[in-house]
Amino acid sequence: MSNPLTGKIAVVTGASRGIGRSIAETLAADGALVAVHYGKNKASADEVVAKIKAAGGDAFVIGADLSKKGAAQALFAGLDQELTKRTGDVKFDILVNNAGIAPFVGFTETTEDVLDEIYTVNVKSLFLITQEAVKRLKEGGRIISTSTGAVRTPLPAVAAYSMLKAPLDNLTKSLAVELGPRAITVNTVAPGVINTDMAAAFVSNPEGQAFALGKQALKRIGQPDDIADVVAFLAGPKGRWVTGQTIEASGGSALTF
Ligand SMILES: NC(=O)c1ccc[n+]([C@@H]2O[C@H](COP(=O)([O-])OP(=O)(O)OC[C@H]3O[C@@H](n4cnc5c(N)ncnc54)[C@H](OP(=O)(O)O)[C@@H]3O)[C@@H](O)[C@H]2O)c1
Repeated sequence: MSNPLTGKIAVVTGASRGIGRSIAETLAADGALVAVHYGKNKASADEVVAKIKAAGGDAFVIGADLSKKGAAQALFAGLDQELTKRTGDVKFDILVNNAGIAPFVGFTETTEDVLDEIYTVNVKSLFLITQEAVKRLKEGGRIISTSTGAVRTPLPAVAAYSMLKAPLDNLTKSLAVELGPRAITVNTVAPGVINTDMAAAFVSNPEGQAFALGKQALKRIGQPDDIADVVAFLAGPKGRWVTGQTIEASGGSALTF
């Protein structure tokens, strides 16, 4: 059986840790050459690449701090150079916009600086990276972004984060229409609580776990590969007819009053 992504090239932002790491590993296992993007943790990104290669896949790292002005240009300068070296071209197939931050601050405590940083990393850089990616994506490509179930049901403990993930749904719909004629699909995956550094408050203590499980239909804590498998479906040939959608993968969180 051939791998569904053999011959494809994927770029995964925020792939040094957590959900992005699992997405990078899963897409590589499916046959894609993966650009493993990191912000601060190059050593972790190097580990991801080493693990992918040890499993028989191929990957390389790309660094860019998405909280800085010019982040998209920095990311694509590195990516273009590496892809040209490997393939003679800057084109690729799959963009996964996964990098994000979720400072644990409620509405009242949110400062202008915190608001600016969440906006810059989670919205502005994502928009500008996607803009550059669209120039390079091949016909039949994929754009998949990581949102959160907290858009549907806001989490007051991360009020600004909840609010600032909402624009992804909107962009997903408009880009799906714009890129449809190129057979590029555009979707968003919205996780619930997933066992990563970001969700430490929920997963690293019994009270947090009880809170999360109390909200979920499925009674276990979600793991990064629960999200990576949904992304892999959308990235692969079996996801070809899904576009402009937000798919919640939350173990059925907050389904009822
Ligand atoms: N975990 C959850 O429960 C959960 C739930 C819903 C949605 N999500 C979403 O899923 C995505 C991944 O979350 P996660 O839980 O895997 O988070 P995580 O474990 O904290 O990892 C975040 C990733 O984003 C990168 N990143 C953060 N700030 C960056 C910056 N300024 N520049 C470049 N890269 C940056 C990090 O890279 P470095 O470490 O290299 O800087 C890291 O690879 C996020 O968009 C998040 O909003 C997570």
